[in-house]
Amino acid sequence: MKNTPEGFINLVHQRYSDEESRLRAQQFYKLMSSRRSVRFFSDEKFDRRLLELAVMTASTAPSGANKQPWKYVIVESPEIKREIKIAAEKEEKENYERRMPKSWLDDLKAFGTDWHKDFLEVAPYIVVVFKIDYLNEDGSMKKHYYVNESVGISVGMFIAALQNIGLVTLTHTPSPMNFLSRILKRPSNERAFLLLPVGYPHPEAVVPDIERKGRDEVMEII
Ligand SMILES: Cc1cc2nc3c(=O)[nH]c(=O)nc-3n(C[C@H](O)[C@H](O)[C@H](O)COP(=O)(O)O)c2cc1C
Repeated sequence: MKNTPEGFINLVHQRYSDEESRLRAQQFYKLMSSRRSVRFFSDEKFDRRLLELAVMTASTAPSGANKQPWKYVIVESPEIKREIKIAAEKEEKENYERRMPKSWLDDLKAFGTDWHKDFLEVAPYIVVVFKIDYLNEDGSMKKHYYVNESVGISVGMFIAALQNIGLVTLTHTPSPMNFLSRILKRPSNERAFLLLPVGYPHPEAVVPDIERKGRDEVMEII
């Protein structure tokens, strides 16, 4: 394009050599394949600016019509973390003892999980991601598009950003999650999407011995 059309800017793009691309692809795959969901945290604190950078990385995600329909609430207050733990455990106790069908409980056996969620108090930070379904502007409701897809992509980038700096997390979904809006005093257009404790792993942390699907199971080339 000879002239840059109004409302556009020139793309900034980094092109790598074939060899460098191959190397970077392998290195990134290696980094990401060592990611695991962690349920045993150390209470060791870390510089909150690292978390803020990870959130800003997550916030570079693509989104339907660029609405960026997410809000990341970083909780470091021990009192609020405790309040979240108590409320999450109340829901999870109900889930494990009454709401979940046997087939679901059977599927969860490999993970050794139950309604106790100690990590919600131990991890130095809990990040609660809210999705923003619409905005109230000038008295009218402006709906967002592809909200779940957009927020899901953003959280994926957040998890990758944490992995890149050696922090660990768990994608946690205590269901239903309405209590998070109440405790964190969120406006009515925000709904809790996921909750992620973030920190360093406990020195004796263990993870389930589970397998990832192989190349031929996850892709087809036609
Ligand atoms: C949307 C979503 C919700 C999840 N919810 C929970 C949860 O509530 N509690 C939990 O212990 N793990 C939860 N997990 C973690 C999964 O169990 C975990 O990602 C899966 O077993 C694969 O293990 P890995 O992350 O170590 O590769 C969730 C994962 C996703 C993607």
